[in-house]
Amino acid sequence: MKTAGGTDAAKRRAGERAAEEVEDGDVVALGTGSTTAYAIEAIGEAVGDGLEVQGIPTSFQSRQLALEVGIPLTDLDAVETVDLAIDGADQVVDDADSPAHGALVKGGGAAHAREKLVDAAAERFVVVADPTKLADALERSVPIEVLPDAHSVVADRLSELGGDPTLRDAERKDGPVVTDNGNLVLDCEFGRIDNPDALAARLSRLPGVVEHGLFVDLADATYVGLEDGVEVRE
Ligand code: 5RP
Repeated sequence: MKTAGGTDAAKRRAGERAAEEVEDGDVVALGTGSTTAYAIEAIGEAVGDGLEVQGIPTSFQSRQLALEVGIPLTDLDAVETVDLAIDGADQVVDDADSPAHGALVKGGGAAHAREKLVDAAAERFVVVADPTKLADALERSVPIEVLPDAHSVVADRLSELGGDPTLRDAERKDGPVVTDNGNLVLDCEFGRIDNPDALAARLSRLPGVVEHGLFVDLADATYVGLEDGVEVRE
């Protein structure tokens, strides 16, 4: 699959196409990342043209952008329904014959805990992606948000599960990455993940884990930005 203008143009096409799905009166979950940012900007433009929506941001970053482009904001406690979630992904299983079809790795922006909460609450969850994100199986390292006190203990448990965890930006002068929830992130290599559902269950059982970046059976469709448009994969 080729993308004219490269990955960024593909991200833009996917994000803008997903924004067209937003209808008057919708409550929309606003994901995090560079692809979703295009959707947020397009929704902001539509709001300028009179569309009435409320957005639920999934991170400080998406909240700031939504405010900048004029999207009125709300939160999960204040609404009965979330009509649509638009969010990016770090990797998507694109093999229709795979039992893991549609499974995602998310959390490149360390926002996966709120993203999972809000994306899972939506009536429809649309993933926006460029073709570099598509894969036959998940192989990217899995971001795991952990309580700060738990990072060494959880890292040991992850190694026992066959993973290779690294504290995100541990060597940085300002200290490791801290999430919007005040926690740390372990990025854990598991190699090829043939059964993301089973791994997700094991990760969720570890004390100290706040949320992991495996999203299984949550996405309803993937909008893939291409050279000549957008392919919608349900
Ligand atoms: C943030 C995420 C992002 O959606 C994911 O990292 C994709 O980002 P981008 O659209 O910039 O490639 O999961 O936690």
